[in-house]
Amino acid sequence: MKPSVVLYKKLPQDLRSQLDEHFNVTEINGLTPETLSQHAEVFQQAEGILGSGGKVDAEFLKKAPKLRVASSVSVGVDNFDIPALSERGVLLMHTPTVLTETVADTMMALVLTSARRVVESAERVKKGEWQGSIGADWFGIDVHHKKMGILGMGRIGLALAQRAHLGFSMPILYNARKHHEEAEQRFDAQYCDLDTLLKESDFLCISLPLTEQTHHLIGREELAKMKPSAVLINAGRGPVIDEEALIAALQEGTIHAAGLDVFEKEPLPKDSPLLTLPNVVALPHIGSATHETRYGMAKDAVENLIAALNGKVDKNCVNPEVAK
Ligand code: GLV
Repeated sequence: MKPSVVLYKKLPQDLRSQLDEHFNVTEINGLTPETLSQHAEVFQQAEGILGSGGKVDAEFLKKAPKLRVASSVSVGVDNFDIPALSERGVLLMHTPTVLTETVADTMMALVLTSARRVVESAERVKKGEWQGSIGADWFGIDVHHKKMGILGMGRIGLALAQRAHLGFSMPILYNARKHHEEAEQRFDAQYCDLDTLLKESDFLCISLPLTEQTHHLIGREELAKMKPSAVLINAGRGPVIDEEALIAALQEGTIHAAGLDVFEKEPLPKDSPLLTLPNVVALPHIGSATHETRYGMAKDAVENLIAALNGKVDKNCVNPEVAK
């Protein structure tokens, strides 16, 4: 008998076939309280789950007593209660490598778009406002040679440092839990404390996972330490920034602008003040959203599930100690 697996995300046909070869797959429409109760019997039997989004916590685990592996189509795993999974002996797999370059591209796009007012200018052209040679009311600020601050120096932070330093001649400052030798050697990145990073960065790019330690790490006090000319970029997880404090800082001119791919609540509510601020570029969480990378993530997630349900966890496992 093939192990039972619940799939809660659409997969490209070839990957779906690969999954079907190995498992008895039930596809459901997302992981929500509704689908959980609709498919309660399927979850009772499931040894694996594969998808993205939806809460996987102790309550969920009670409903999936046979679960051995959760395979997330994402790098971020903040929607999983990792201690609860580990305690129950459930392996958590994710896709940390395949999306690195694409997310760094998105962050650099937010840097450029926010600084050069790309979205705003393009919208003005479409509205017919380009009537003659443009004046200072269309001008942006330079990116090249400005100080790039990176908060969190993981794979994505490193790929961003590469773009900023080699492509745009930007000196790199960073703060992270520990020194990153490669970033220092290859991109001359300078390690500093958070206060210095806040005070000195022209562009402050956040590339942190969401944890208890990073929740609302950037709030009113931190924003107040930034330069009034600074631009804040976030493409990790929304709740790392206290969004209410950020809105106030953008309205009051505490900082110059923000480029955001992630928010405290997603989709961003229609009445969010962020949508009315001219100095905000808001994207719908497109960090890894290219055809190539989303395919690569789905492929990794399928392979991770097959490997882990067969006892192989040599990569892409968040809690490999569970296998021992
Ligand atoms: C996207 O946000 C991811 O975690 O992969």
